[in-house]
Amino acid sequence: MATVESSTKVVLGGRRGGPDVTTLRQDRWWVQPVVTVSVLTAFIIYSTWAAFQNKNYYVGATAHRDLISPFYSPCLANSCLPGSSHGFILHGWNLSPALLILLFPLGFRMTCYYYRRSYYRAFWWSPPACAVADAHKTYSGETRFPLIMQNLHRYFFYAGLAFNVMLTYDAFRALRQPGLGWGVTIGTLVLFANATLLWMYSISCHACRHLFGGHVKSFKKHPFRYWFWKVMTPLNAKHMNLAWASLLFVAFTDVYVRLVASGALTDYKLF
Ligand code: FES
Repeated sequence: MATVESSTKVVLGGRRGGPDVTTLRQDRWWVQPVVTVSVLTAFIIYSTWAAFQNKNYYVGATAHRDLISPFYSPCLANSCLPGSSHGFILHGWNLSPALLILLFPLGFRMTCYYYRRSYYRAFWWSPPACAVADAHKTYSGETRFPLIMQNLHRYFFYAGLAFNVMLTYDAFRALRQPGLGWGVTIGTLVLFANATLLWMYSISCHACRHLFGGHVKSFKKHPFRYWFWKVMTPLNAKHMNLAWASLLFVAFTDVYVRLVASGALTDYKLF
């Protein structure tokens, strides 16, 4: 039986995978990068459009509801719709309130270890898949600006926690039905599901795991950290799934609130 022999010259700092051969893989390795590009591009287009809309992001007292889109919470601008603000207003900001806050969830996702792997592969082909050569001649990793900024991930993680608290508060606020009392609608469940997925995404973060499990010489002396580390480690293994689920659901939540606010959809009361 004939054997195929190949050798790849490795040049430090050069194109990973070698200068001559792109790949020997014969499977459809390109499917995953194509799907990633499609979903992330669709999300970026939709969220940018939604952020600039500056309307239909809140369903308030006139509809006996208290539902706010996660893209607009906390609503801090002068222009916030009546009832949508959480009490603190940045006077002088008259553009869309979403533009004030998007940097934080966006920074959290952009610097996420999983998304980095994903979009480096999908958008930059660096490398596009395992055992497929880089599309670039050189590789400098994350040692220079702007990619060195990826090291800010742990700080975006803390900001993400503050947003999770806010969105959980919004979900509880959605139990309030002005003029009717308290109850649960489809919208309430959507907001609770969104907050839950965002918490699971944050808790499964590698920076979170390091926060509880890193720098510990003996877990015996840190029983709470050990308990939490054991709870979140299985979630950490599912970080990729949680990253996609929470991303898609946050967009779905905005769509839901937007449709109800515009009158295209009824937010049915369950009890
Ligand atoms: S590693 Fe993905 S959110 Fe931290």
